[in-house]
Amino acid sequence: MINRDRLWQSHMEMAKIGATPAGGVCRLALSDEDKVSRDLFISWAREAGCTIRIDRVGNIFARRAGTDPSSPPVITGSHLDTQPLGGRFDGAYGVLAGLEVVRTLNDAGTETRAPIDIVVWTDEEGCRFSSKTMGSMVFAGKIDEDEVRAATDPDGKSFGAELERIGYAGSEACGGFPIKAYFENHIEQGPLLEQEGIPVGAVVGAQGQRCFLVTVTGEEGHAGTVPMDQRKDSFLGAARMADAINRAAFQFDPPPVATVAHVRVRPNSRNTISGETVFTIDSRYPDADKLLQLEEAMSAACKEIADNMGLGIEIARTSIAAPVQFNAGCVDAVRRAAEARDIPCMDVYSGAGHDACKIADLAPTGMIFVPCERGISHNEAENATPDDLAAGTQVLLDVVVEAANAD
Ligand code: GLV
Ligand code: MN
Ligand code: MN
Repeated sequence: MINRDRLWQSHMEMAKIGATPAGGVCRLALSDEDKVSRDLFISWAREAGCTIRIDRVGNIFARRAGTDPSSPPVITGSHLDTQPLGGRFDGAYGVLAGLEVVRTLNDAGTETRAPIDIVVWTDEEGCRFSSKTMGSMVFAGKIDEDEVRAATDPDGKSFGAELERIGYAGSEACGGFPIKAYFENHIEQGPLLEQEGIPVGAVVGAQGQRCFLVTVTGEEGHAGTVPMDQRKDSFLGAARMADAINRAAFQFDPPPVATVAHVRVRPNSRNTISGETVFTIDSRYPDADKLLQLEEAMSAACKEIADNMGLGIEIARTSIAAPVQFNAGCVDAVRRAAEARDIPCMDVYSGAGHDACKIADLAPTGMIFVPCERGISHNEAENATPDDLAAGTQVLLDVVVEAANAD
């Protein structure tokens, strides 16, 4: 049986790294805090008898040996990086659930046929460099390693330089080995499980995503002297575009989600009309065709606003992810494991993106969700209960062992 209190204690220890005054966590990818959290995970994994491998983009694999060393591993894990004002559970739960599985197997002296790898993927959140799920994307061959290393943050620091600075540029090739199965635990980040009073979700799939970087170009000018009808105000254009993007989403029923939330204004001075505004669009929907239609609608609306205001506009697509269906056998394994333990379970669909979505093309993949308070996530108030975290981890233990011992 999973040790509920040990699992909770691990979360509370990990949450001290990058803790914010309001009870959340700030552990941006490849920051000093990310390094300390990685170091802590590795020390715990070594104490649990695991051997550590680190690949060239900093993904960490902590292996508990199996009885058949020639067998591909069953992999479980998630990420330790967070949003700038993130919570204690998004990502950390999947990693610490994997660690608790290994600790519990050690306590019971249980061997498995296949090795079990606990993985920490690099830069899942995608809020520092240009794209999300960087480590798992390289692992899955969906993005070039050099492109990821060259990606820069708003201060011009590159992924590659930061990875080396924190000492996590490993020597192993990234990916290229077979995986027997992959399971990832995560808080739901939505309200359904809590509303239904169900502690475990068997995740059937995740919605597709299309993300963009929009650059609006106007003309800098004096805020006190340029008449209102003679301005080329890039920020005003961007504000109108943000509203048009929101309205474009509401043309669909039900509406896809479309979010403008990262804005950079140049020169960002109180009394200079902004000459350049750069903003992100994050759009998601379970249907790939509708997501493309939304892209066309958003793009046409932004271009029309730019034309009407005499502004320049450039829209660059920064990522596309197709909707994902998780492996039917893995989803069913989660349902069966929950039932065998008398843990109530229901099927759920993920609104958020996960590293598991990238691995789903490579190996049989499943995810296990647990409730989070009022569905709040990407927020310092993010919360989950020790009982629910333990229930999800118990199910993880059972599906990992079943997969590891399968022929
Ligand atoms: C990751 O948290 C995402 O879904 O954007
Ligand atoms: Mn996450
Ligand atoms: Mn997240």
